[in-house]
Amino acid sequence: MQELEQILDGALKTFAALEDAAALENAKARYLGKEGSLTGLLKGLGKLSAEERPAVGARINQVKQQIEAALQARRDTIQQQALQQKLAAEALDVTLPGRGVGVGGLHPVTRTLERIETLFHSIGYAVAEGPEIESDFYNFTALNIPEDHPARAMHDTFYIDEQHVLRTHTSPIQIRYMQAHLEKYKHLEAMPDIRIIAPGRVYRVDSDATHSPMFHQVEGLWIGERVSFADLKGVIADFLKNYFETEDMQVRFRPSFFPFTEPSAEMDMSWNGGWLEIGGCGMVHPNVLKHVGIDSEKYIGFAFGVGVERLAMLRYGVNDLRLFFENDLQFLKQFNS
Ligand code: PHE
Repeated sequence: MQELEQILDGALKTFAALEDAAALENAKARYLGKEGSLTGLLKGLGKLSAEERPAVGARINQVKQQIEAALQARRDTIQQQALQQKLAAEALDVTLPGRGVGVGGLHPVTRTLERIETLFHSIGYAVAEGPEIESDFYNFTALNIPEDHPARAMHDTFYIDEQHVLRTHTSPIQIRYMQAHLEKYKHLEAMPDIRIIAPGRVYRVDSDATHSPMFHQVEGLWIGERVSFADLKGVIADFLKNYFETEDMQVRFRPSFFPFTEPSAEMDMSWNGGWLEIGGCGMVHPNVLKHVGIDSEKYIGFAFGVGVERLAMLRYGVNDLRLFFENDLQFLKQFNS
């Protein structure tokens, strides 16, 4: 009987000290398993006398139940502890502030384009687009730059194949738009005015602090029965005043040459006491109108093309064109407050 008490005492202490479910099951075998100490005592019952047997047997069974109860209690505790640990590790604090979704922002060049579009929209210009991979015909020939004409050397062109280029300017959109406009209104006796701007990416083999092989232009075109160079000057001057939000803006036109305009001019704007070139312009060359089938005796108009990055740099005070295309978030985030 002494031994029985020791076994019970040992089992209770052993179970209490174990923290791990697998170790606990191993310990159980030591007491209740086939070779376990309690099982050994039960087997020994047969050696006892008939008088002793019932009392000893009952006591052994009692101890066995106590050990089984202790075992189950310990199992429950260990399981509870494991659950608590898991809950603590996976805790979800619903009172924490949300992490927020990273919202993107508009690129400064895109903001500039949108600003230009809004301003021209307000004076009745529609926005037109065209493909960036352009045929030789639209990029050059239709713009009065025939094959082998030296004017082609003005553009350092990326060729896709013999007939296709990455457009070197937005001027081919003039041609596409005039053709579509003419087709659309051919049932009318008089063609309604064409008044568009055409923003987009253009490409030239060129790369340094002020030139990028890809950059943006906005083309402008107004064709009607009575459009003059004075209108061109007025539209450009008004646009620049509105764009830079100042009345204190001078615009200068210097004679220049483009095969698709005659006369042609470079446009300069006043800036910090000097002049800055912002693009080219002129009265649309009669050959260009003839090319698309517009009566050049009846209709006349102007076209211009301005560099968008230049306008963005001036408005935002950016001094290196390349910053726009390096995808440096620190730089880009400044334009989205
Ligand atoms: N297409 C010319 C260029 O890229 C600019 C321009 C447009 C000039 C329209 C005159 C008229 O340089």
